[in-house]
Amino acid sequence: MKRRALVTGGNRGIGKEIARGLVTEGLDVMIGVRDMDMGVEVAEDIGAKAALCDLASSVSLPPHARDVHVLVNNAGVLFEEPLFTPAARFDESVDVMLRAPYELIRATLPFMQREGYGRIVNVSSGWGSFAEGLGGPGAYGIAKAALNALTVAAAGEAGAGIKINAMCPGWVRTRMGGASANLSPEEGADTGIWLATLADDGPSGKFFRRRKEIDW
Ligand SMILES: NC(=O)c1ccc[n+]([C@@H]2O[C@H](COP(=O)([O-])OP(=O)(O)OC[C@H]3O[C@@H](n4cnc5c(N)ncnc54)[C@H](OP(=O)(O)O)[C@@H]3O)[C@@H](O)[C@H]2O)c1
Repeated sequence: MKRRALVTGGNRGIGKEIARGLVTEGLDVMIGVRDMDMGVEVAEDIGAKAALCDLASSVSLPPHARDVHVLVNNAGVLFEEPLFTPAARFDESVDVMLRAPYELIRATLPFMQREGYGRIVNVSSGWGSFAEGLGGPGAYGIAKAALNALTVAAAGEAGAGIKINAMCPGWVRTRMGGASANLSPEEGADTGIWLATLADDGPSGKFFRRRKEIDW
């Protein structure tokens, strides 16, 4: 039986390349999308399926999307405005990059625990790292630092056979990263594909960039 994966924000950027890579690895992949028409088109293009999944409000996954062996919490938002202004969209940042990953882990973990196998990848950022100075505009670094904390806590509770890690993709040429970034979306996706398909003796509760462990 093919293993199943759910990749949020899988319609473009790094998420699309992680989804494409997991299809190539032989997984049955579902991309979480906000726009179903566009999502179905992208899904067909990469050999995946699409599921409606807007993470700015409470997530209600259909049962088939809960029964996955691999969850990639990739969707993200970045607002440039100062933290203590409404335009920083603090709530939306925290909803998409912390609350939704929490709810998705909670929804998918029971199946992984029954299967005795799970891989969860939280796409974070160096801007969420205290060791790297906690950077980024507005609420971005705060949400990513909290996602890192969730990674450690969830890895501690997940149980046998389930590996939960965070990663920084590097600076990647996407709508978020901009055209001057040094990495292609494929290069940004590589660590995510690796963590989503880790061998049974692979790490859990760690933070990676370019397949190397980095400090929180
Ligand atoms: N690019 C970089 O240099 C860089 C660096 C460090 C970390 N990251 C992280 O890498 C991840 C992917 O970023 P990217 O560069 O690929 O960004 P991107 O091209 O801007 O894509 C962001 C994705 O998130 C989805 N998304 C945003 N809000 C959502 C919501 N409310 N519900 C569901 N999906 C939502 C978007 O869907 P729509 O198409 O519907 O908007 C899109 O698929 C993010 O977590 C980001 O923080 C990126």
